[in-house]
Amino acid sequence: MTTDTTTQDAVPGASAPGEVVLDARGVTMRFGGLTAVRNVDLTVNSGEIVGLIGPNGAGKTTFFNCLTGLYIPTEGEVRYKGQVLPPKSFKVTAAGIARTFQNIRLFANMTVLENVLVGRHTRTKEGLWSALLRGPGFHKAEAASRARAMELLEFVGLEAKAEHLARNLPYGEQRKLEIARALASEPGLLLLDEPTAGMNPQETRATEELVFAIRDKGIAVLVIEHDMRFIFNLCDRVAVLVQGEKLVEGDSATVQGDERVVAAYLGEPFENAPGDEEVAEVEAAEAHAEATTDAAPGKENDR
Ligand SMILES: Nc1ncnc2c1ncn2[C@@H]1O[C@H](COP(=O)(O)OP(=O)(O)OP(=O)(O)O)[C@@H](O)[C@H]1O
Ligand SMILES: [Mg+2]
Repeated sequence: MTTDTTTQDAVPGASAPGEVVLDARGVTMRFGGLTAVRNVDLTVNSGEIVGLIGPNGAGKTTFFNCLTGLYIPTEGEVRYKGQVLPPKSFKVTAAGIARTFQNIRLFANMTVLENVLVGRHTRTKEGLWSALLRGPGFHKAEAASRARAMELLEFVGLEAKAEHLARNLPYGEQRKLEIARALASEPGLLLLDEPTAGMNPQETRATEELVFAIRDKGIAVLVIEHDMRFIFNLCDRVAVLVQGEKLVEGDSATVQGDERVVAAYLGEPFENAPGDEEVAEVEAAEAHAEATTDAAPGKENDR
């Protein structure tokens, strides 16, 4: 992948209408013999909410990791507002892409407010010396940062819990805090990995409203979720990943009506299914394991 650290468009935020915010081309990620993501193209335009769905293990999170510099794709290129992304996650954040994680990653022993302040560090101009010397510039910047962090907590509905420890928040609120922390880097594109996992129906509906509000602020959104009602209510476009490949992409009605998508979720085989050979290999290995193991213990695949 080409590296370009001379990002012109360093100030993120609202994009010009119709601007291509994210342009991923031919992204492939291999782990040894396993191809987790295969030749995936995906664009997100300004003002859009795009959904990424697919069965467990389809490669959705791996694809996010390729977009955010956590993984360097084996092949392919990712551009944000026309610039090739640098292969380091903190530089990707600085360029304007923020994310939340499927497995919540908060600083459990910090307060809610402190967690959001951590998310702001890519945007604060005050450098190391200013922070160490704690001059007037530092105090002014810190006050502005706190004010912005409180604004974001209010935006996600957590302002009353600013001084609580993150670990004491219920699960649904921890997910909201992750969103506030991601927004603190003032992104132009927000990637959400299963934002409603573990939420009750009311919290899920509130999250839907929150994502619309984020979009209305001029931040494009790419969201992974297993809750289909959430996805189809929310998204302008939906892409379906199956065994690492993009199977279908279109508006909600197109995707819902596509029999290959239904088949992929029901686990039925369909013609030209991506990764057929891999499935056959796994099945053969499992059959072999069963034949050679007495009373194999039950295996849990559910999450
Ligand atoms: N770091 C890694 N090393 C090896 N294999 C990996 C790694 N990360 C992911 N995989 C494999 O890549 C495949 C895709 O995993 P991924 O987590 O991207 O799926 P997913 O679509 O996000 O699934 P889920 O809906 O369950 O979160 C899986 O087979 C997984 O085991
Ligand atoms: Mg995942």
